[in-house]
This record gives sequence, C-alpha cells and structure tokens, in this order.
Amino acid sequence: MTDNALGKGSVTITEEAFPLGRDSFDPASGPTAWLWRHVLDVLQAEREQISARPVAPQIDLARLRSAVGLYDFDEPAHPGAVIDDLVELLRDSTVHTTHPRYFGLFNPTPTLLGVVGETLAAAFNPQLAAWSHAPAAVEIEAHLLRFLGARMGYPAAEVAGSFTSGGAEANLTAVLLALTRMWPGYGTAGLRALPGRPVLYASAESHLAWLKIAHATGLGRDAVRLVPVNADLRMDLEQLTARLDADRAAGDAPFLVVGTAGTTGAGVIDPLPELAELCRTYGIRFHVDAAYGGVAALSDRLREALTGIEQAHSITVDAHKWLSVPMGAGALLCTDRAGLAETFRVSTSYMPADIPDTVDPYTSSQQWSRRFAGLKLFLSLAVAGRSGYAEQLERDAELADALRAHLRDSGWLITSNTSLPVVCFADPSPPADSWKHHTELANSVVQSGSAWISPVRLNGHAALRACVISHRTTPADIDALVQAVNDARRTA
Ligand SMILES: Cc1ncc(COP(=O)(O)O)c(C=O)c1O
Repeated sequence: MTDNALGKGSVTITEEAFPLGRDSFDPASGPTAWLWRHVLDVLQAEREQISARPVAPQIDLARLRSAVGLYDFDEPAHPGAVIDDLVELLRDSTVHTTHPRYFGLFNPTPTLLGVVGETLAAAFNPQLAAWSHAPAAVEIEAHLLRFLGARMGYPAAEVAGSFTSGGAEANLTAVLLALTRMWPGYGTAGLRALPGRPVLYASAESHLAWLKIAHATGLGRDAVRLVPVNADLRMDLEQLTARLDADRAAGDAPFLVVGTAGTTGAGVIDPLPELAELCRTYGIRFHVDAAYGGVAALSDRLREALTGIEQAHSITVDAHKWLSVPMGAGALLCTDRAGLAETFRVSTSYMPADIPDTVDPYTSSQQWSRRFAGLKLFLSLAVAGRSGYAEQLERDAELADALRAHLRDSGWLITSNTSLPVVCFADPSPPADSWKHHTELANSVVQSGSAWISPVRLNGHAALRACVISHRTTPADIDALVQAVNDARRTA
C-alpha cells in the first residue's frame, strides 16, 4: 500500500482538469467521460490481475486505519487519485470474493452485467417505495419475482413477494407473514394477544439468522427450536414431530417450520415434501429458506433436488448468492399478495396515492425507500438467458464433483452428500482436538494466499468447506485447491 492519501501520493494525476468541490457533483461531459474511462481501466486491470493475487491478503490493521484516517475531508482531492487510493486499500485489505480460488461463503464473483446493472440503478436512482415514482422499476421487479416463483413451481400469475437486502430480511418477512396469517390479531395487539408462546422450528444446521429474527420480533431466541439432524445432516422428522407434540402439550403455539434448501454449512436440502405434509397435518406454516440452493431451480437438471419447495407458503432466495449479482439482493416469494398487504399495511398523507391494479412496494415489504435491487438481476438474466445460468450452475456442480473425487483420491473423507456445489471434507484421522486441527488447516490454506476455504462444524464434527461458485473457477483452480489442502495437511 502506498501513501496516496488526499491524492498527493505517487498516483499520476491526469492532465484532464476535473472540477473539485461542489462542482464535482455533476461535471461536464469531458471530465465525466474521463472519470468513467479511468474506472474502466481500473476494473480491467483488476480483472486481468486478480487470479495472480493472494485470495486473502495479510491485514496490517494499524496501517489500514492510518491510511483511511488520512482523509479528514477538509480539502477536496482529485478523483483519479482518490479512486486509485481506494482501489489499493480494497486490493490490499479484502478477502477477494471475485477470485477464482475463493471457495468461501456463498458469494460468487458478480457477473459483468450485474455490475453494470448496479451502476445503472444507482445513476437513475428510482425510488421503489411507491409504484407511481418508479413504474418501470416496480414492474421489472414484479416480473422477476414471477419468473423466480414460477421456476420454484408457484403459478406465475399468483406470485407475490418483494426484493430484500438479502436472505436474512427475506426470512424475517416470512416470519412476519406467518405470524400475521396464523393470528389475525397479532398485527394490532402484538404477541400478548396470542393463545400461547409462538415457536418456530428449523434444523440445527439452518442459518442462524433465525435467532436474530426471533430476537427482533419479540418472539425471543428461546422460541427457535433447532431440531437435530440425521446422519445425512437433514432435519430429523421424528424429532421434529416429537418436539411439536411436546410444545403443544406444554401450551406453546407452534406456527412455522422452516426447511432449509441448501444448509449454510453443508449445502444439504431438508426433506421438503415430508415437511410440507407435516405442516399441513399440524395446520402450521411452512417456509423454505433456499437462500442459495433455490437458484438450482433455473437448471432443469438440478431443479429435482428442490422437489416440494412449491408447497411452501413462502420461499427465500438470494440473487446475490448463486445468481451471481453484486450484494445485496434477496427475495421473498409467496402466492399470498393479500397476506403481504395485511402484514405491511400502512397509509400516510405524504406518500403518493394508490394507483389501481398496482402495488406500492412499501406496503408489501419491510423496507420503505429502497434501491432498485432487481435491475442487476434483470440485466444479467436477460443477457445470459436462463440457459446461460443453467450452464453455469451445472458447471459449478460438476467442478464440485471433480473436487470431491480429487479429495477422495488424496485420502480425505467427504462428509456431506449434496448435489449443490458445497464440498465438505475432513481429515479421516484427526488429532484429539479435531476442530483446532481443521481450523489450522483452513488457516494454513488461507495464509498461503492460494485459496480461501473455511472450517465448519457439521452436526458437531469438524470439517473443511469449499463452495465452488465462481464463474472464474477452472479445473486448474480445483487442482490448486487440492494441492493447497494436501500441503497444509502434510505440514500440520
Ligand atoms: C441458508 C441461508 N439462509 C439465509 C442466509 C442469510 O442471507 P444474507 O446473508 O443474504 O442475509 C444465508 C447466508 O449465508 C444462508 O446460507
């Protein structure tokens, strides 16, 4: 990192005069064009150089803070130099999710069209609270939701929902909708109006946003029953049934079962048809958290793994996960337009009046003012086509299969079984502190800079986890990962 703060460092400042201060808000076309060209050059260089860089640089915290702190904003600075400064900070102090050997959290390298879509959305900046302010944007998002909902198996014409900041907000929306639908008095009188304590059920391998949601909604964290999983890491139906019965007998009020389609740790899909049937029997709601796994529905080949998802009252799916658009964009899908309207109803004198046959997003979602999250997905999907996406998803799944085979050949134990590209593997003969051992193996790989993987605990057992999700990843990157974990084990 160089000391380029305030644009006075080693960056060559272009001769093109760029207005500073207030005049920088909206410069004339010459300087504007120069700035975009500069950004394009920076992005092009990033793209060309990324695979040669360490996936996760070593962080020097003191240096990072002092470099950021040099900006006191008293003096205007040249945008070229500031951008170069920022790029250097990002390059030196970021885990590179756009790297072909980032096998990390479920954040694929964004598509180019996704990045362009994000830029267009920012530039037009439509206000998505009210339909009348952003008819094109609202209709584009509604069209996307219908497309996604139809791929999940909902009747397209009935699909309702909203774009969200991500999966956690979509799951929150599902809980609010479920409470509102189960107990019409909930919206006005709150939890104290309910006949017993509302409780919800998700597998012990589910994403723990459920705890934060229970905290935020006043249900309380104890209201989340984390149901044990079987040896295959899927929710144990017998234990679920026993827990439901016990809770009812104790006077609690079960209201929601969550099936996870692609658990965060292992990419495993809960038994969705059985969960749907059980929820019908108990007269309670069924939600599927398919934050990343749901995107498999775009591939005719992978869709089968999601059978049963269409029976859910609501579904979470994230565009910023396997649909490869920049963060943040998630979605809540359902077929209950009226339920959403009841959950988020509000009317004010300062919002524009309703327009017949349209829905104001602020009356059917948690957010009010909102960015145009759907544009990047629309653009990316329109240009790649569903077939282009299907090809990429299937390629990820094939590379993950290849990785599993290579790991087996190298003596690793594959510890989960899924058609999604989440590969969990373990040292078959770990020392007594298996968690420490696997954490050290992951750290060693990350510190080598050659790849990014993480340790994971699956049903109490330590393992390593690699998500194969970047369109930049090649078979050579898979080989490099196997080499890196083998080296780590050899030197452990
Ligand atoms: C299954 C699942 N649900 C929900 C979430 C939360 O999604 P987000 O981070 O987009 O809020 C995640 C994130 O990894 C997840 O894996």
